Amino acid sequence: SAGAEVRIVEVGARDGLQNEKTTVSLDTKLELLSRLSRTGLRHIEAGSFVSPKWVPQMANTSAILSQLETTREKDDGITYSYLVPNTKGLSGFLDGKPTPATTGNEIAVFASASEGFSQKNLNCSIVDSIARFEPVVASALENGYQVRGYVSMVISCPYSGPTPSQAVGDVVEKLLDMGCYEVSLGDTNGVGTPGTVGKLLKHLVEERGIPPERLAAHFHDTYGQAIVNALVALEYGIRTFDSSVGGLGGCPYAKGATGNVATEDLVYFLEGTGVHTGVDLEQLVGIGEWISKTLGKGNGSRVGRALASK
Ligand code: HMG
Ligand code: MG
Repeated sequence: SAGAEVRIVEVGARDGLQNEKTTVSLDTKLELLSRLSRTGLRHIEAGSFVSPKWVPQMANTSAILSQLETTREKDDGITYSYLVPNTKGLSGFLDGKPTPATTGNEIAVFASASEGFSQKNLNCSIVDSIARFEPVVASALENGYQVRGYVSMVISCPYSGPTPSQAVGDVVEKLLDMGCYEVSLGDTNGVGTPGTVGKLLKHLVEERGIPPERLAAHFHDTYGQAIVNALVALEYGIRTFDSSVGGLGGCPYAKGATGNVATEDLVYFLEGTGVHTGVDLEQLVGIGEWISKTLGKGNGSRVGRALASK
């Protein structure tokens, strides 16, 4: 990834798989992660330490962490990231004795900009979730792990309606103040357009003065707007983009939401725009084809389909 001008956070093994109805085997997950680790990607989400009653598909995250710790090459330069909703989740992460380092392992806490989704996803209010994250973030930092933050439903929420930019800004600032090194802006249900995403970024970056280096774009592609929205984010100075190979995914608590923007589509767009990603598109296309077949579904990446049929 030498000379990469953007950072891609590959979320396929977490966001991509968490909503799969049938259990994806540990071997398939490890194979996916292993293949992804050889593409030039430097930041890979590997799982979630959440309640297995809430998200059964992520139940084997401890096994994933310990496998990665024993099999990964030393100084491979890859950061593996794990979602953690509370102190119990943090204990699960720490029990795996993950290598603490700038690159190595980190956690992510996830809040919502809308009350409705906060209740559905975390079973508590926004304020309560922030209070819950504080000791998690403090303890992770004390133990030498960096913490990423997420804010969901930044454009509109299926339960609460359109999300005021102010509400997003408030949660972003709380997460940054708490010690998150960056906050990823989740258009969870993929409803944003350059109009609404531009308005949000204008508020965050220009009106509130949040440095774009502290923000990431996490666009789901439900309405086919993710790439054009990524261009808007790029124009606002954002250089970190979340995506999922093969466009895998959906959120268990956001009905009808489809996958993240496909990593293949994102890389094709960025490289075509002259923004170097450091990621091998051809390899990604192969992985997208393989995982889609393995899960018995169509490849959700248009670029993947086009290049695979060449
Ligand atoms: P709760 O039911 O209110 O929690 O859920 P609780 O504290 O009352 O505990 C209930 C049971 O869960 C207890 O077990 C706990 O021990 C257990 P029991 O006594 O009944 O046997 N439990 C746990 N087990 C394992 N790991 C844990 C854990 N915590 C409690 N960490 C809770 C609250 C937060 C746990 C639950 O709501 C939850 O797990 N939510 C996570 C939902 C989730 O993972 N959603 C998807 C990720 S977010 C997303 O996809 C959006 C994103 O991509 C960005 C975007 O697109 O916008 C990031
Ligand atoms: Mg998501």
